[in-house]
Amino acid sequence: MQSVVVLVLLLLLLLDGEVASSTDDGQFAYQGFATARLMLDVASITPNGLLELSNKKGHAFYPSPLSFRKHSSATTNSSIVARSFSTSFVFAIVGKYDGLSSYGLAFVVAPTTNFSVANGGPYMSLLNSTNGTANNRILAVELDTIMNTEFQDIDSNHVGIDINSLVSQQAKPAGYYADDDGTFRDLRLNSRKPMQVWVDYDGQTRQLNVTLSPVQVPKPKKPLLSEAIDLSAVMEDTMYVGFSSSAGISIITRHYVLGWSFSLDGPALPLDFSKLPTLPRLGPKPRSKVFDIVLPLTTGLLVAAVLATIFFFLWHRRRFAEVREDWEDEFGPHRFVYKDLFLATDGFKERNLLGIGGFGRVYKGVIPTANLDIAVKRVSHDSRQGVREFIAEVVSIGHLRHRNIVQLLGYCRRKGELLLVYDYMENGSLDKYLYIKNGPTLYWCERYKIIKGVMASLLYLHEEWEQVVIHRDIKASNVLLDSQMNGRLGDFGLARLYDHGTIGKTTHVVGTMGYLAPELVCTGKATPLTDMFAFGIFLLEITCGRRPIDIDENNNQVVLIDWVLEHHRNDSILDVIDPRLAGNFNEEEVILVLKLGLMCSHPSPNTRPIMRKVMQYLDGGLSAPDLSPTYVNYSMMMLMQHEGFDSYMTLCPQSETSICTVSGESSVSVLLEGR
Ligand SMILES: *[C@@H]1O[C@H](CO)[C@@H](O)[C@H](O)[C@H]1NC(C)=O
Ligand SMILES: *[C@@H]1O[C@H](CO)[C@@H](O)[C@H](O)[C@H]1NC(C)=O
Ligand SMILES: *[C@@H]1O[C@H](CO)[C@@H](O)[C@H](O)[C@H]1NC(C)=O
Ligand SMILES: *[C@@H]1O[C@H](CO)[C@@H](O)[C@H](O)[C@H]1NC(C)=O
Ligand SMILES: *[C@@H]1O[C@H](CO)[C@@H](O)[C@H](O)[C@H]1NC(C)=O
Repeated sequence: MQSVVVLVLLLLLLLDGEVASSTDDGQFAYQGFATARLMLDVASITPNGLLELSNKKGHAFYPSPLSFRKHSSATTNSSIVARSFSTSFVFAIVGKYDGLSSYGLAFVVAPTTNFSVANGGPYMSLLNSTNGTANNRILAVELDTIMNTEFQDIDSNHVGIDINSLVSQQAKPAGYYADDDGTFRDLRLNSRKPMQVWVDYDGQTRQLNVTLSPVQVPKPKKPLLSEAIDLSAVMEDTMYVGFSSSAGISIITRHYVLGWSFSLDGPALPLDFSKLPTLPRLGPKPRSKVFDIVLPLTTGLLVAAVLATIFFFLWHRRRFAEVREDWEDEFGPHRFVYKDLFLATDGFKERNLLGIGGFGRVYKGVIPTANLDIAVKRVSHDSRQGVREFIAEVVSIGHLRHRNIVQLLGYCRRKGELLLVYDYMENGSLDKYLYIKNGPTLYWCERYKIIKGVMASLLYLHEEWEQVVIHRDIKASNVLLDSQMNGRLGDFGLARLYDHGTIGKTTHVVGTMGYLAPELVCTGKATPLTDMFAFGIFLLEITCGRRPIDIDENNNQVVLIDWVLEHHRNDSILDVIDPRLAGNFNEEEVILVLKLGLMCSHPSPNTRPIMRKVMQYLDGGLSAPDLSPTYVNYSMMMLMQHEGFDSYMTLCPQSETSICTVSGESSVSVLLEGR
């Protein structure tokens, strides 16, 4: 019989290295419990060999009782003494929520494995309220994670030695004395991490030691608890050894024992950590089970993620690609990053579109870091050569500072595209207050203020700044209104881009039809006086509320300047005033502005006043100039403006003209092809 058991055990050992020796001489060691035959009561062994004591009252005992007493031969008196024993086990308390767990786990030496009368909860499934299980013969080492004042618990994380009672003989907070410096190191019993416990009793010295340490830390020399105790009175001849746990109702807690060794009359065999089962993973499923599915899946996902990243990177790069050349470095501070502009305008969304002008679309944007409202103009171009000069000009224009000039903040360059960043003007462009039927309109005093503003900006450009700047495209739609309805001149140098961009002998004369001075069409040379011509047209425009070239009710083309001049000749100048003003205007001012308008847009450049003179009229109280009807001769211009350029061609015989539009409704540039 005995040999059969040994044979079976040997077979078990051969088949599975997990279980170590187990003999009835009171020595055994379990590196995991996969094949261990323990007496289990509301406890189980997991497939990978963990002993799990969980629900309510869990018990697990070594199946055979062990003889804990012997007849002492040390004295002539034949007395019965408790034998020395030593045990070591690795445990883990795993709460569903970290730091929360119920009651705890205990190593138990008891005369029975029948704990049906014991209570769970704080009674550790060992005793009941009348203290009565098993004739009061119980030794327990409790790993207690709940503080029960009923049993005078010291805290909710302690190790205690219990004899026949749940009131510990001695207890200490969980931890260990480090071997190197002797300091006490705290441990948290329900930390979900495996820890090792040693319980050693010396029958000779009648001393019971309890030692705790994190797993893999060698047994500390100084035990956590050391109690002088004679277990002779506690032990019966045979006792069972095992574990008890108790869990509460509300807090789901699992108490695991990973390995356990025991020995009577000698040290317990050390546990081999490499052979211990692993604790179940929290959250994701244990890897071993789903490895076959997870690995290819994760690899696939990883590859997909890498590809997606590469695609995103390429897309991102393409999307935000810019053109930047060495020579631009000197303009560094004025350069914007395209991505910033893209983000500022919400990706140039339609709803941020402020308008479509002659040279491109204008979008509203916000630079969040600076809390700055901006307007971004996208200008497409196809010339490389002109861009450099243009940018140089843009940058120098960026240095212009005048309260009647829309501040250019900087630019950005992409392939075939320029982005110009301006201060955002709350009230938009002036033209929408002049031409939109039933739209918003302006009082005369507002118009007069705007006129003075534009005049001031031109004075600055032509005479006050370090260089003479020619705007080239003065018109109502390039006058923007800020929050206080001040007129500000915008869109500098754009016309010039096309001028610079000319290929070969071709010369673009740029500007807007109706604002082009006759000599500009002829020579292609912009001067302050060509700006002045456009300013004159602008004065008529803002006072009359009409476009420079308009279509009347009878579908006839009306050239504003001719129409005003005609009324001037017929002494009915007040008839040209914008009917929307409904007679609310300062007559003197209106007549002055109209006369200045005619003066400035005189076909002969040398007859036009300079800006300082205009200022003296508007600001300095000079009375309106006297324009005799014969003094001005517009016929030549009339011919040019709406009967073709034939007569001019005779003046400029080397040129042949054609008209082309530059991607917009109102801006027209006149192309002169030199021969
Ligand atoms: C032996 O036993 C007797 C009676 O039980 C006792 O009086 C005596 O002291 C004992 N001797 C020793 C050495 O324990
Ligand atoms: C356990 O003890 C109770 C009484 O103390 C008894 O009724 C029950 O049958 C016992 N169970 C076992 C399995 O021996
Ligand atoms: C159990 O008995 C011990 C004495 O052995 C006593 O100190 C303790 O208070 C008792 N506990 C209960 C719950 O009655
Ligand atoms: C406690 O256990 C003792 C001994 O087994 C038993 O006599 C007693 O009835 C139990 N008390 C309760 C409240 O279960
Ligand atoms: C208990 O610990 C003390 C040191 O604190 C040691 O001297 C003694 O031998 C230990 N006893 C056992 C049974 O391990």
